[in-house]
Amino acid sequence: MTLKFIAQPATQLTGSVRVPGDKSISHRSVMLGSIATGVTRVSGFLSGADAIATMQAFRAMGVKIEHEGDRLLIHGVGRDGLCAPQGEIDLGNSGTAMRLMMGLLSGQTFDVGLSGDASLCSRPMARIADPLASMGASISMNEGRAPLRLLNASRNGDSLKAIDYVLPMASAQVKSAVLLAGLYARGKTCVTEPAPTRDHTERMLRGFGYDVQTEGAHICLSGGGELTATDIDVPADISSAAFFMVGACISPGSQIYLRHVGVNPTRTGIINILRKMGASIEYENEKIVGGEPVADIVVKASVLKGIDIPEPWVPLAIDEIPVIAIAAACAQGVTRLTGAEELRVKESDRIMAMVNALNAMGIDASETPDGFVIQGKGGGEEDAPTAAVFGAAELLSYDDHRIAMACTIASLRADGPIVIQDCENVTTSFPAYIELANSLGLNLEGRA
Ligand code: S3P
Repeated sequence: MTLKFIAQPATQLTGSVRVPGDKSISHRSVMLGSIATGVTRVSGFLSGADAIATMQAFRAMGVKIEHEGDRLLIHGVGRDGLCAPQGEIDLGNSGTAMRLMMGLLSGQTFDVGLSGDASLCSRPMARIADPLASMGASISMNEGRAPLRLLNASRNGDSLKAIDYVLPMASAQVKSAVLLAGLYARGKTCVTEPAPTRDHTERMLRGFGYDVQTEGAHICLSGGGELTATDIDVPADISSAAFFMVGACISPGSQIYLRHVGVNPTRTGIINILRKMGASIEYENEKIVGGEPVADIVVKASVLKGIDIPEPWVPLAIDEIPVIAIAAACAQGVTRLTGAEELRVKESDRIMAMVNALNAMGIDASETPDGFVIQGKGGGEEDAPTAAVFGAAELLSYDDHRIAMACTIASLRADGPIVIQDCENVTTSFPAYIELANSLGLNLEGRA
């Protein structure tokens, strides 16, 4: 059954919400809680399809995990306590689950098969398998893609070898996979990043009492240690809050309050970019929760201007670029994105998907190999501030949750309905998106 979103024109966003828990942190809480000693209590867990897939995977490897609402009780089995699952593990749409588990599970003594949906099975996995192979892992893949199999039994109980790995691309998933394999390696495993990426793995390992050393771009840990269970408070996901941040910026009269959002500096590229475009975004009640910075965020409508997005900010806003494209279309002048070729291998080719969506809504936008150029249609302050920017259109989401949600935000400056096909994957990261979006002022309906 396919789910279609119909977003009727809406005028502004107002109100206060807490969006669901951070997806990256939710995945990691299950993985590290499972291999820790003792009971880990998680609150604010994202009960979306991706993080649930990770939870089911660890249950299948013998971990007792109690789940109620946004709370988990993970009865950790210790570093070497996982057992062989029955059959292949299905990770659905989740690249993070597959890539991080490739690292963590390479350290086990049993073989494991990992698979997923058509999108996941089309995404590159050699970027993970290559460094793991140099640590001694043996991984069989389907031309560099899933379904794949970790052939751990062939090592006859030998542990992995530590490596010093220079990441060929700025990827938190590759970094995390190598570090998680490093927990099971003899000696000190190090990675060097070409640019900063999200550091939730490093922060959470420290929260479990594991020593991780970070010196600039160089991150190291020694294998063989133990993780000790801890309590984890998962902040609201800035990647989910991003849709409403842009929605409030582009629709005159808007003012929203986004509560308890994770504002780790390796995730706040969206805020840097929107502020550089002229947005009014303020933090209140800043605090550190379980090693992660958290704040309430106030966003008000603003006149945006087009910018050249600084390349170092791209990895810090990698999942928010689709909705930044919507902001760019509502800005005055041109916005250029470069250095973002990684977007082509996300849940969909997000450069192609957003340029096609913008073109269908009447925006002058074009692809470049590593980004896009968007001619903003936002008028000057002297123009009617509520002028429509987007024309009514029927769009494809390319089965990508973030493309689907980004396109709904266009309805705040549209002159007719925006219809988006194939939106069922929105549940991977944002269950109840429709209800929450409508509570702020969108006029969104889901139709089977
Ligand atoms: C993630 C890292 C990012 C991001 C993904 C989640 C993570 O991918 O796009 O949604 O949790 O580590 P890359 O690190 O491959 O860029």
